[in-house]
Amino acid sequence: MSKLVTIYGGSGFVGRHIAQRMAKEGWRVRVAVRRPNEAMFVKPYGSVGQVEPVFCNVRDDASVAGVMAGADAVVNCVGILSDRGKNTFDSVQHEGAERIARIAAEQGVATMVHLSAIADTETESDYATSKALGEEGVLQHMPNAMILRPSVIFGQDDGFYNRFASMSRMGPVLPIIGGDTKFQPVFVDDVAQAAVKGVLGQAEGVYELGGPEVKTLRGWIDEMLAVVQRRRGVVNLPFWVGNLMAFGLGALQTVTFGLVHNSVLTKDQVKLLRVDNVVAEGAKGFDDLGIRPLAPETIMPDYLWRYRPSGQYDAIKDSARNLKI
Ligand SMILES: NC(=O)c1ccc[n+]([C@@H]2O[C@H](COP(=O)([O-])OP(=O)(O)OC[C@H]3O[C@@H](n4cnc5c(N)ncnc54)[C@H](OP(=O)(O)O)[C@@H]3O)[C@@H](O)[C@H]2O)c1
Repeated sequence: MSKLVTIYGGSGFVGRHIAQRMAKEGWRVRVAVRRPNEAMFVKPYGSVGQVEPVFCNVRDDASVAGVMAGADAVVNCVGILSDRGKNTFDSVQHEGAERIARIAAEQGVATMVHLSAIADTETESDYATSKALGEEGVLQHMPNAMILRPSVIFGQDDGFYNRFASMSRMGPVLPIIGGDTKFQPVFVDDVAQAAVKGVLGQAEGVYELGGPEVKTLRGWIDEMLAVVQRRRGVVNLPFWVGNLMAFGLGALQTVTFGLVHNSVLTKDQVKLLRVDNVVAEGAKGFDDLGIRPLAPETIMPDYLWRYRPSGQYDAIKDSARNLKI
């Protein structure tokens, strides 16, 4: 029998890359999510029956244990950017992570990989606090676990470049918050490669993952604008304006009893945007894993072309213009 890995949150942006890589390694993969019916796209990652989406809610002991039965390794990719109903930072990123580790220890699972994040607890953001408590909980039960702390992650379906590229289509001005804050974007498949090393038992401990370049948010936006071939006035709004916007959007969510969910900007995110999001000096990283991370400029054109003024026809229009001359 080939080995089995349960990937909690395996249908998400990062989880699906890990699922794909584990299937290529010949493992059976269980993708444990709340909406397996929306995760059917993972099935073709392997041969028939090799990759299976299954129902699980990490907020529930029995649910977590059920999908872990028989697993040789577990990966936790469940994370959120804002509280939604019972899926809160604490219940998911702290208690959920700890629950997976506790049950993995009880079931004698050999290895665990946990996706955390570079998030400074001094920001006093709930996101950062829950990530720190989650890591603590994981290590308490699975001391040999691999913990990955990536900076912002980019790739085909990212929520970083796609979001700003989409905003750049709306008008001549592109407002941002935290323009002077530094980021070290890391390619999603590089994060997946690191996780696979953990699953295979080739690495353990805490790793901070960042790409080869550090720039301010404004610097990364300028680079994205060059790729989508649009000129925009990037306006760096002060943090108090960010807080005001977050307050307004939060109030809208409250008065609509959550029907309108604020996934644009929360007060917690404004706190995080105040602090640089880069790999700490002396932290273990890609070098220690023998992985050479890819730079955003090598990947961005592959998926941001759709935001160009003429989408995939931009290049052909350019060459047609040359023909006329
Ligand atoms: N993306 C980034 O830039 C970034 C940067 C640093 C760290 N990280 C961390 O990396 C991890 C993966 O991030 P991502 O971007 O891949 O997130 P994502 O795309 O939002 O995926 C989250 C996954 O978790 C599942 N999920 C959510 N709540 C759940 C619950 N209660 N029980 C079971 N499954 C649940 C979702 O599926 P269902 O909704 O169907 O349940 C989905 O499969 C997270 O821990 C995140 O904090 C991400």
